[in-house]
Amino acid sequence: MDAEVNRAAAETPPEPPLDPVFEIEMQLLLDAIYLKYHYDFRAYAGASLRRRLRTALERFACRTLSQLQDRLLHQPELFPPLLDYLTVQVSDLFRDPAYFRALRERVVPHLRTYPSLKVWIAGCSSGEEVYSLAILLREEGLLERTLIYATDINPQALQRAEAGVYEMDRVPGFTENHRLSGAPGSLSDYYTAAYGRALFDRSLKKHIVFCDHSLATDSVFAEVQLVSCRNVLIYFNRELQDRALGLFREALCRRGFLGIGSRESLRFSAHAEAFEEVAREDRVFRKREGA
Ligand SMILES: C[S@@+](CC[C@H](N)C(=O)[O-])C[C@H]1O[C@@H](n2cnc3c(N)ncnc32)[C@H](O)[C@@H]1O
Repeated sequence: MDAEVNRAAAETPPEPPLDPVFEIEMQLLLDAIYLKYHYDFRAYAGASLRRRLRTALERFACRTLSQLQDRLLHQPELFPPLLDYLTVQVSDLFRDPAYFRALRERVVPHLRTYPSLKVWIAGCSSGEEVYSLAILLREEGLLERTLIYATDINPQALQRAEAGVYEMDRVPGFTENHRLSGAPGSLSDYYTAAYGRALFDRSLKKHIVFCDHSLATDSVFAEVQLVSCRNVLIYFNRELQDRALGLFREALCRRGFLGIGSRESLRFSAHAEAFEEVAREDRVFRKREGA
């Protein structure tokens, strides 16, 4: 086992033994969600899906997944709150600052050579990654020529992302991450504080399009120079990871860049050979010539 596998094993709580009835009910529930709401969770990683569904059972006061399925099919108003249990919304501004430092040092010099830029942030959650990249691109003098597509499957997360408002008690952490990302200036230049909240600048939003897009069911919608998809693939099984990576490969222009999360890897993917490492530790890759 290498260090990465060891670390992942240490962070994952041990799985209780599989209950065959729970497994059948889970499969049926995911089919029902797909058929009724067109959200496809059938190829998500089993362990974390099971954990989240167990929590959802408590929240919706259901004894079994079959009961939950029955309620979901007949009470559509239950689906949006369930979606919050099925998708993990943890995020941070300049999360893993070394990743953003690697983008500044290793990717931005190449991005400068394009007269106009498109960036796709897939699985953007409530927008922290989007504002981080928009701020970084502004600091590097590139935002004015950039259009950022910020996509997710969770409409409530997308609404929060579009609002760009975060609790003020998160700002000291944001500020420290921003500094560690190698930022030349102060984060406070990019938000206004009011009523215990930080509102990110409208001038950043002018360059961002927020939209609903699923890596499980939708296709490519634009050619981009950079895809950043962090802490999303970790929730998918290998087959779905390959689907998503295939979309990124197709969306990226010749020699385009791809960034993934610190616990994610391309190593066992069907698309591994299509990418070369740019910053190994920070999970930044570049599409190979002809790939
Ligand atoms: C943990 S958050 C990652 C947020 C951000 N990228 C970061 O690294 O801080 C995972 C996000 O992936 C989204 N997601 C889950 N399944 C998805 C899918 N099939 N297509 C697009 N986004 C998805 C979730 O809704 C959630 O907002």
